[in-house]
Amino acid sequence: MNILVAGGAGYIGSHTCVELINAGHDVICADNLLNSKYEAIRRVEQITGKTIKFYKVDLTSYEESKVVFEENHIDGVIHFAGLKCVPESISLPLKYYQNNLDSVFTVIRLMKEFSVKNFVFSSSATVYGNPSKLPLTEESEVGKTTNPYGTTKYFIEKILIDLCHADPTFNVAILRYFNPVGAHPSGLIGEDPTGIPNNLVPFVTQVAIGKIPFINVNGNDYDTKDGTGVRDYIHICDLAYGHVLAINKLATNCGLVIYNLGTGHGYSVLDVIHAFDKVVGHEVPFKIAPRRPGDIATCYADPKKAREELGFVAKYGIDEMARDAWNWQKKNPNGYESE
Ligand code: NAD
Ligand code: WQD
Repeated sequence: MNILVAGGAGYIGSHTCVELINAGHDVICADNLLNSKYEAIRRVEQITGKTIKFYKVDLTSYEESKVVFEENHIDGVIHFAGLKCVPESISLPLKYYQNNLDSVFTVIRLMKEFSVKNFVFSSSATVYGNPSKLPLTEESEVGKTTNPYGTTKYFIEKILIDLCHADPTFNVAILRYFNPVGAHPSGLIGEDPTGIPNNLVPFVTQVAIGKIPFINVNGNDYDTKDGTGVRDYIHICDLAYGHVLAINKLATNCGLVIYNLGTGHGYSVLDVIHAFDKVVGHEVPFKIAPRRPGDIATCYADPKKAREELGFVAKYGIDEMARDAWNWQKKNPNGYESE
């Protein structure tokens, strides 16, 4: 199939391009490179040996985006395009609502005009807010989001649900990612945050390589096995492959489907740091720091529905996640250096 990967130069998008191409799909990528570099696309081409048709477009602009649909026969869209920095969304909420919602509106409008019926949306476990019961199933309550970023995901989910209700010919897969980490085992593509990373794993790798002196472990007084926050980390290649399975599912004309993409295993912040100690070959320094505002104690998925309906099973564990994140960091100490 011809798959338009919107936001395909980003962290999850670039890994998904690899999995789609390996599964025999043709990939067209649209990205304004707001939070990514074209070099990621070159590296995907290097890994796969295939060329990707790339459009540098702002997907909130109908006029700019229309050309992508005019010039290609598209069978399905995977929509990664969005802003994702939680603290920035708190200080600049309108920027987040505008970019994240408008890019979806534009793409859906074009899909309707060009009769493209299959849409995969990058949602997040953040839609569950602070869970009252674990593990999180797709039936768990959503909407009590704790920041504007999370609320954009919740709003877009609602919009997509209404769309499918109004137009049963549309097929939509809402994928709720847990905590994607790691990198392609080649070390050619990986997570390339701008400035000081917000998320745990890129922070740990930058400490391990000596760019930052130590990790702040945000809170050791949570009600968890060692007091530090517990999350369901998922290897980026497993997550990326989940999109191939979602595209297969949409091809069966399934209408609206919602899946958690996690492993079902919770690891604490200290578990993650110790997994890195092993692959780095020395102890990665950390200090206990206050809790991060808005953080929850524990979050992990019930992965059963994705396993039973998509055949999704995560292949990699925390050791491979640490190994591949470290391999990427070592080979690319300054990320993608060229544009
Ligand atoms: P990313 O920032 O690496 O990738 C997003 C891509 O979208 C970037 O390449 C960016 O340039 C592009 N983009 C943003 N706005 C655009 C616009 N208006 N027009 C065209 N391109 C635009 O982020 P990621 O980690 O790859 O995340 C991909 C998606 O998955 C996002 O929607 C994110 O919210 C969601 N998600 C990410 C995580 C995570 O922890 N990484 C977890 C859950 C959900
Ligand atoms: C993981 C754990 C921190 C940094 C975020 C978004 C979420 C989703 C995924 C997009 C927590 C602790 C972290 C540090 C630490 N993104 N930590 N020191 O917060 O689970 O999820 O990314 O949808 O919406 O909120 O991920 O990697 O930031 O934190 O101790 O320097 O690591 O407290 O327990 P989080 P994270």
